[in-house]
Amino acid sequence: MKHFRNIHDVNDIPDLVMKGVRLSKDIQAKIGQGKTLGLIFLNSSLRTKMSTQKAAMNLGMSCLLVEATSGWPLEFEDGVVMNADRPEHIKEAAAVLSQYCDILGLRAFPSLTDQQKDYQDYVFNQFAKYATVPVISLESAIYHPLQALADMITIEQHKTIAKPKIVLSWAPHIKALPQAVSNSFVQWSRAMNHDLTIACPEGYDLSPEIVGDTPIIHDQRTAFRDADFVYVKNWSSFEKYGQVLSKDKSWMISQENLSVTNSAKVMHCLPVRRNVVIADDVMDSDQALMIPQAANREISAQLILQEILSEL
Ligand code: CP
Repeated sequence: MKHFRNIHDVNDIPDLVMKGVRLSKDIQAKIGQGKTLGLIFLNSSLRTKMSTQKAAMNLGMSCLLVEATSGWPLEFEDGVVMNADRPEHIKEAAAVLSQYCDILGLRAFPSLTDQQKDYQDYVFNQFAKYATVPVISLESAIYHPLQALADMITIEQHKTIAKPKIVLSWAPHIKALPQAVSNSFVQWSRAMNHDLTIACPEGYDLSPEIVGDTPIIHDQRTAFRDADFVYVKNWSSFEKYGQVLSKDKSWMISQENLSVTNSAKVMHCLPVRRNVVIADDVMDSDQALMIPQAANREISAQLILQEILSEL
């Protein structure tokens, strides 16, 4: 694997997921010895920041971290007169970071105001264009592949039948959130040939290109019937780009909402706002898989780093 920008960098998704299921965290083969991973976070993170560093340590790599507040504000547009408040161009920044690091990772959230630019993954791709070493996505404007890989591993570990019914459900939130986690979950779940349904209110259908022929049901109770897994996530509207069209509390995931499921396991990438997105009675139940999911972020990061290191 040369890069890990999105699902298209992976040849065989089911094979990669099963490698993740088999992977041990305390790997002894220090394939990363003498190599350096540079992680650039333009947005907040807890899990990605920690799990990716831990994965690199497992492989014997050194880690360098740049956070938005500690670097110079970056200009991403080519050919501009840089006379405003961004003193460093991504062209130099990515090239310079490539001198210090063998692999680079970037987190760059969307604007949620310019759909065309966000869906070109403009910021992430400008970074990848000017980096001269392999790059991995730590969540871009439209994809979060390390999360999706961890989610697929978690489903494999917890499923009790060969083809469980999985529902990706929108849930309310107080502000507009990106579609990246949901987009990647749908892409990877389709690549795993899951029995997937999307439940969301009218106006919240994800990009048709991402969704393909996945059934979309605008009634949560109908979608939840006999579900084995419910993956919960808020996202802002794709159609009315970046807007919050609903804060309907009846979509919050509670034991009452789950009563029609097959005692569904509940997943969420975290962070989650308790009693806004998911109720305490679900978060604190045996059905909640958020902590094993977060643990698998270390596995997914280690697996991807190993794949890239093996080709350096
Ligand atoms: N799920 C996830 O990516 O968490 P962080 O935003 O804390 O990294």
